[in-house]
Formats: sequence, structure tokens, C-alpha cells
Amino acid sequence: MMWHTITHLLSSIMLLFFMLSQTTTTANDANNKSLEEIALLEGSIPEQIGLLSNLTQLSLYDNRLTGYLPVSLTNLTRLDYLDLSYNNFSGHLPDSFTNLIRLKTLNLDSNSFSGEFPALLTDLIHLEELYLGSISNSFSGELHVSLTNLTHLKRLGLSDNNFSGELPDFITNLTI
Ligand SMILES: *[C@@H]1O[C@H](CO)[C@@H](O)[C@H](O)[C@H]1NC(C)=O
Ligand SMILES: *[C@@H]1O[C@H](CO)[C@@H](O)[C@H](O)[C@H]1NC(C)=O
Ligand SMILES: *[C@@H]1O[C@H](CO)[C@@H](O)[C@H](O)[C@H]1NC(C)=O
Ligand SMILES: *[C@@H]1O[C@H](CO)[C@@H](O)[C@H](O)[C@H]1NC(C)=O
Ligand SMILES: *[C@@H]1O[C@H](CO)[C@@H](O)[C@H](O)[C@H]1NC(C)=O
Ligand SMILES: *[C@@H]1O[C@H](CO)[C@@H](O)[C@H](O)[C@H]1NC(C)=O
Repeated sequence: MMWHTITHLLSSIMLLFFMLSQTTTTANDANNKSLEEIALLEGSIPEQIGLLSNLTQLSLYDNRLTGYLPVSLTNLTRLDYLDLSYNNFSGHLPDSFTNLIRLKTLNLDSNSFSGEFPALLTDLIHLEELYLGSISNSFSGELHVSLTNLTHLKRLGLSDNNFSGELPDFITNLTI
């Protein structure tokens, strides 16, 4: 347990280091910004995130992160909680996203992803909370296909998107 906590902490610090080393903020700039502004992460998620393969929870919500999600992110196969909401990530979700089989919470709200809503989310059968609101109008697809297997869903957020089709039957049992 202790070891787990320590590696978790180390992982978090490493992540912060990676993230900060990617930002363009210089010491001088930093001096002139409020603490709140400095705390915001900028740039894109670095490839090296894939090295944090023991990470179980990753929360980067409400920063200024942009760009594509690196494929290496899907190396974090122990993740059960991933919150990337309120950034400006773009592009397609990597095909190997399906590796994140342990995910229980996935929050991609308020980003600029594009492409078909990945039918491969179908394989994330442990999902209990899925938020795909305000992602961008070019993120579309057939909901029915994508959500069919997600029988553990307890919360589903789909506001302001361009999805089509019907919801699977079991969804009617959800309290949305
Ligand atoms: C920081 O602010 C000072 C004055 O408030 C200014 O002289 C300096 O150029 C600024 N530095 C940067 C990097 O913006
Ligand atoms: C994925 O994680 C393994 C350790 O589990 C590591 O050896 C490998 O380099 C990582 N791959 C990437 C792309 O980060
Ligand atoms: C992951 O945790 C195991 C112990 O549970 C440890 O042996 C391994 O080095 C850790 N890997 C990383 C990349 O921290
Ligand atoms: C988000 O990124 C897109 C390009 O991918 C850009 O056109 C848009 O202005 C950005 N939005 C914000 C709020 O930064
Ligand atoms: C998800 O459902 C499809 C049929 O819609 C099935 O082929 C696939 O094996 C299922 N995946 C899992 C992980 O249960
Ligand atoms: C919404 O999705 C449909 C296909 O399902 C596509 O034809 C249409 O262009 C999309 N609308 C926008 C605004 O992207």
C-alpha cells in the first residue's frame, strides 16, 4: 500500500516535471503572472507520459492543453480515472484507446476532438461515467454502436454534440 502511494506520488511529480518542461513559460514570464496562471499547464501531453505505466488516475482538467493525444497515453493501462475536460485537445482519439480497459471514469468534455465517435469505446466495458459534452460538432457517430456494451454506465454526458442514432435500451434505466 505504502509503496503504491509512493510510486503514485513519484509518478505525479514526474508528470508535472514533464508537463512543465514542455511549456514555454520562462522564469521571467512566470514572475509576472499570478499564481493561478502559473498553475495552468500549457502545450501538449508529451510522449513520455507513456512511461508512467503504473498511474491509476490522471486529472488534467481545466488547463490550456492542446494538440493530439499521444498514442503513448494508451500505455497507461492501469488508469481507472481519466479527466481531460476543459482543455483544447484536437484530432482523433488514438485507436489503441481501447487498451485503457480499466477506465471507470472518462471525461473528455469541452475539447476540440474530431472524427467518428470511436466505436472502440465499446470495449471499455467498465465505464461508469462517460462525459462527451461540447467536444466539437465534427465529433460524430452512431451512439448505439458505441454504447452498446457499456452496461455499467451510471452517468452519461452528451450535451452539445453531433451524435446520431438511438440510445441503447439499457440507457433508459439511467438517471441522466
Ligand atoms: C514583468 O513586469 C515588469 C514590470 O511590471 C516589466 O518591466 C517586465 O518587462 C515584465 N517581464 C516580462 C517578461 O514580461
Ligand atoms: C510503456 O510502459 C512500459 C513499462 O510498463 C515501458 O517499458 C515502455 O517504454 C512504455 N512505452 C511508452 C511508449 O511509453
Ligand atoms: C510499477 O510498479 C511496480 C511495482 O508494483 C514496479 O516494480 C515498477 O517499477 C513500476 N513501474 C514504473 C514505471 O514505475
Ligand atoms: C482550439 O484549437 C483550435 C485548433 O485546433 C483553434 O482553432 C481554437 O481557436 C482553439 N480554441 C481555443 C478556445 O483556444
Ligand atoms: C462489444 O459488443 C460487440 C457487439 O456489438 C461485440 O462484438 C464485442 O465483442 C463486445 N466487446 C466486449 C469487450 O464485450
Ligand atoms: C454531423 O454529422 C453528420 C454525419 O453524421 C455530418 O454529415 C455533418 O456534417 C456533421 N455536422 C457538423 C456540423 O459537423
